[in-house]
Amino acid sequence: MDHATPDSTLSVIVTGGASGIGAAVCRRVIEAGGHAAILDLNQEAAHTLARELGPRAVAAPGDVLDEAGLRATQERLAALLPAVNGLVNCAGIAQVPTAIEDYPVEAWARVVDSHLKGTYIACRVFGSAMAERGRGAVVNVASVLSFRPGPVLAYGPAKAAVVNLTEALAVQWARRGLRVNAIAPGWTDTPFLKPKERQGERDMTPILNATPLGRLMQPSEIAEVVFFLLSPAASVITGATIPCDGGVIAGSGWAPYGGFPQAG
Ligand code: NAI
Repeated sequence: MDHATPDSTLSVIVTGGASGIGAAVCRRVIEAGGHAAILDLNQEAAHTLARELGPRAVAAPGDVLDEAGLRATQERLAALLPAVNGLVNCAGIAQVPTAIEDYPVEAWARVVDSHLKGTYIACRVFGSAMAERGRGAVVNVASVLSFRPGPVLAYGPAKAAVVNLTEALAVQWARRGLRVNAIAPGWTDTPFLKPKERQGERDMTPILNATPLGRLMQPSEIAEVVFFLLSPAASVITGATIPCDGGVIAGSGWAPYGGFPQAG
C-alpha cells in the first residue's frame, strides 16, 4: 500500500480495548469516522463501550492467548467490519514489584505471556492477514520499562521484548505494505496503575517525582500518538518505538544530581 496517499476508512482491532489506553484508542478511531473492534477478556466492559461508541464499534470478547479463539473472532468480524487495516496491541496484566525469591515462575510467566505471547499471537492472526492483503499498520504497546529496568521482573523484560518483536516484524512485513511500530508510555491514568493486589492504595508521589512533566499521562493523549502511527501521516515510520512518557526516559539520570529543575 502507498501510505503517502490518504487511507480508506480505518478499521482497527484493539486488544485490551475495553479499558484505559485501548478504550481511548477505540474512541479516537470512532471519532475519526473509523471502525473499531474492542477485543478484550472483559466481555461486559467490551459490550458497554461498544454500546457507548455506537454502530461502528463492535465488542469482540476474547483472550489474546487463545490463537484458535482469535481466528474464530477474525471470521466473525469479517462480516461486521470493513477489511481490517489496523491492529493495536494493548492487552496485558499489571505486576506489583516483587523480589525474585518471592515470585514463582508461574506468576512470572502469566505476566510475560499476557504482554509478549499475546502480542505475538495477535500479530500472527491479524497482522498476517493484513500482510496478505498488502496494507495496514500495527501499533504495539511497550513501556518506559522497555528501556529502563524497574523492580517488575516479568513486566519490564516482556516490554523490552515487545520492542524487539516490533522491530523484527517491521522488517519482515516492510515490503508487504504493513508498518509495525510501538509506543512507550509513561505512567498513564488507567486502572492498570492500581491493580487489585494494591487494593486501590497507591502513593503516586514517586511516579510524579520520576516524571519531568510532573503529572500522569492521560489515555486520550496516548491514543493521539497511536492514531498518528495508524494513519498515513506516519507513512515512513516503521520499526520505531515512540516514547510518550512526559520525559521519564530523558529524565532518568537526573536524580543523583538533585532531581529536575523547578519552575521559576
Ligand atoms: P488497563 O488495565 O486499563 O487495560 C488493559 C485491558 O487489557 C483490560 O481491559 C483487560 O481486560 C485486557 N486484557 C488483559 N489481559 C487480556 C487478555 N489475555 N486478552 C484480552 N484482553 C486482556 O491497562 P492500560 O493502562 O490501558 O494498559 C494498556 C497497555 O498499556 C498495557 O499493555 C500496559 O502494559 C501498557 N502500559 C500502561 C501504562 C500505564 O501506566 N497505564 C504505562 C506503560 C504501558
